[in-house]
Amino acid sequence: MDEKISNLREEALVKLNEAKNALDVENIRVEYLGKKGLVIEILKNLKNVEASHRKEVGEKANILRVEIENLIEKKMFELKEKEYEEKINSTEKIDITVPVDEKIGSLHPITIVQRELEEIFTSMGFTVEDGNEVETEYNNFEAVNVPKYHPARDMQDTFWLENGELLKTQTSAAQNKIMLKYGAPLKAIFPGRCFRNEALDASHENTFFQMEGMMIDKDVSISNLIYFMKTLLSEIFKKEVEVRLRPGYFPFVEPGFELDIKCPYCDGKGCRVCKNGSWIELCPCGMIHPNVLKLGGIDPEKYSGFAFGLGLSRLAMMKYNINDLRALNSCDLRILKQMNIK
Ligand code: DAH
Repeated sequence: MDEKISNLREEALVKLNEAKNALDVENIRVEYLGKKGLVIEILKNLKNVEASHRKEVGEKANILRVEIENLIEKKMFELKEKEYEEKINSTEKIDITVPVDEKIGSLHPITIVQRELEEIFTSMGFTVEDGNEVETEYNNFEAVNVPKYHPARDMQDTFWLENGELLKTQTSAAQNKIMLKYGAPLKAIFPGRCFRNEALDASHENTFFQMEGMMIDKDVSISNLIYFMKTLLSEIFKKEVEVRLRPGYFPFVEPGFELDIKCPYCDGKGCRVCKNGSWIELCPCGMIHPNVLKLGGIDPEKYSGFAFGLGLSRLAMMKYNINDLRALNSCDLRILKQMNIK
């Protein structure tokens, strides 16, 4: 048995010495130290060794096992070092000073439109506020005049959390907090991601972006609303746009409107973007309901205000001529290329 162990040792040392790569080393490990490896077999079969030799054979086999383990580790280290050396000395060179001539990325269309809007609004004295994505039922509904059993809730089914909170369905969900935080007078916009439980199609997504705005002061009227919206949209489309208001129902405004713009692409003559309708429905808005002001700690006898909820995703689609809302969340970089966004 002594001789067998010393032969195994010799053999293993030669093989390890000749091993050229990690795979060779692994094969050697399996051959000697694997579950059915030659050294392990000796240890497993100790019971068959004559009792007087058993201890000695066991010790020698164990010493050999540890020796081979250490040699394997050493060999792997040498091989790695060698590989590293070869890489360093190879002809492959990376010149990190070469200028990058490929376009490496761009902002998302929604980000571009959002930043553009923020710039326009801040230049008109509005602050930019943040809203939560996970909201309380109170902020999303009750605080904007949509009590529990109001039918308007049906239009905004969403994703509920186990703790009773929800993914906000509208940026209006931040109105109450902002009023409580700043009081009146107030001029703020708050962009954000919204969620709804929708059947998906080209114009319905479960995740989309809006930008809400509020202006509250003494004597704010519908004329102020029209003025701000007209200025804003003219800046976005880089030309004077015509707007019109139609009555619209939203529980948090009274009166409420749908604001349309005359199609800036065909000047109302009729085209693909306005679906030959000449006008495009762009922004629901209205005069803030007295209940909403009251819940926000603002006296509706002293102050009035307007609010609007611009569809950011919608605006980005118009601006970049995208006809499927789902493209905006698809992470498909070809879409950015197609839109030629710089
Ligand atoms: N929150 C409404 C929605 O998502 C949009 C909206 C309508 C916002 C009228 C407003 C508003 O601030 O005045 O459908």
